[in-house]
Amino acid sequence: MKDTLNVAVVGTGLWGRTHLLAYRQHPRVNLQRVCDVDPERAARAAAEFGGTACADYQEIAGDEQIDAVSVATPDFLHCQVVLAMLKAGKHVLVEKPLATETGEAREMAQAARAAGKYLSVDFHNRWNPPVAAAKERIRSGSFGEPVMASARLANTLRVPRQMLSWAGRSGPQWFLFPHIVDMICWLFDRQAVRATASGHKGILQSMGINAYDAIQALVEFEDCSATFETTWVIPETYPLAVDFNVTLFGSGERIGLSPLAASMDVAGAKHAWPVTGAQQEIHGTLIGWQFLPIWHFADSLLAGRAPMCPAEEGFHNTAIIRAIEQSIERGDPVAVEAL
Ligand SMILES: NC(=O)c1ccc[n+]([C@@H]2O[C@H](COP(=O)([O-])OP(=O)(O)OC[C@H]3O[C@@H](n4cnc5c(N)ncnc54)[C@H](O)[C@@H]3O)[C@@H](O)[C@H]2O)c1
Repeated sequence: MKDTLNVAVVGTGLWGRTHLLAYRQHPRVNLQRVCDVDPERAARAAAEFGGTACADYQEIAGDEQIDAVSVATPDFLHCQVVLAMLKAGKHVLVEKPLATETGEAREMAQAARAAGKYLSVDFHNRWNPPVAAAKERIRSGSFGEPVMASARLANTLRVPRQMLSWAGRSGPQWFLFPHIVDMICWLFDRQAVRATASGHKGILQSMGINAYDAIQALVEFEDCSATFETTWVIPETYPLAVDFNVTLFGSGERIGLSPLAASMDVAGAKHAWPVTGAQQEIHGTLIGWQFLPIWHFADSLLAGRAPMCPAEEGFHNTAIIRAIEQSIERGDPVAVEAL
């Protein structure tokens, strides 16, 4: 048991901010350092959240005071930072996906084991209330054996066009599939064996973004299957930035989930469905399921126990999505690589 945890955050963009907000709220976490290759961003984060700013993550690796590090760099830039932190003896919470290549994901999982440190992936839908409720139902037995699932997670064009400067080096398969692929593997407690997929390109490419517009994939497990679909080209007139729908079929039950269903709608200059309960301040207190995995990571380290979402599950997630990509390229089913 530790009294307090000294942490740092590498990557202080959109989602690094979620980690900073979560750590600031935690009574037993001290934010020591914030790092971003963009020194102005790092300085702004330090001014708002505290800690010392730096532009080189090696400074964090070299700081013996720091116990744990959140890594929230772009999807394809996790590996070097994570390896440096593990090698320096830090526990790491990395944003999804663990990596966009299985080689890198394997290297990180092996490095965590070799260092004897925890490497956990922020698969935050395991804390999303309807998803967590579905898990409890499945655990309780009434759902029976998993038969099939379908899951869609998609964004409006605003995400690749305005939100992510690096959209052309990722894609909806890396930005969105990690969430729903992990969700189904976790809910069904199954490992995938094979993927068959098809992808659409052209709309984003015509806007100068080299990414898939949409992907549909069939993922097979030993005794059940799931279809996953994603797109980044929903017109911006859609009132929510995210379209998220899930149906689970078991031998005993059908469970339908709308994990970001609108609980409020606003008709003003434009019609909108603001998301509530994901990240929200209520009378001065920060609440929201998107903070829960970050608090869980800190609480687990403080209690001296392993956090959920270990690197091995992060590897499997990357391996499934790589098989989906390869199946699109080859036009054939592709086996999911094992660790
Ligand atoms: N869990 C979620 O729902 C969710 C939502 C958004 C993003 N994310 C994930 O978070 C990660 C970051 O995404 P984002 O939207 O915050 O991107 P972003 O572009 O807003 O921020 C990334 C930051 O990392 C910095 N950076 C890049 N290389 C660096 C390095 N070597 N050292 C230090 N800083 C570096 C960039 O300068 C930038 O400020 C991605 O993996 C993304 O998939 C998760």
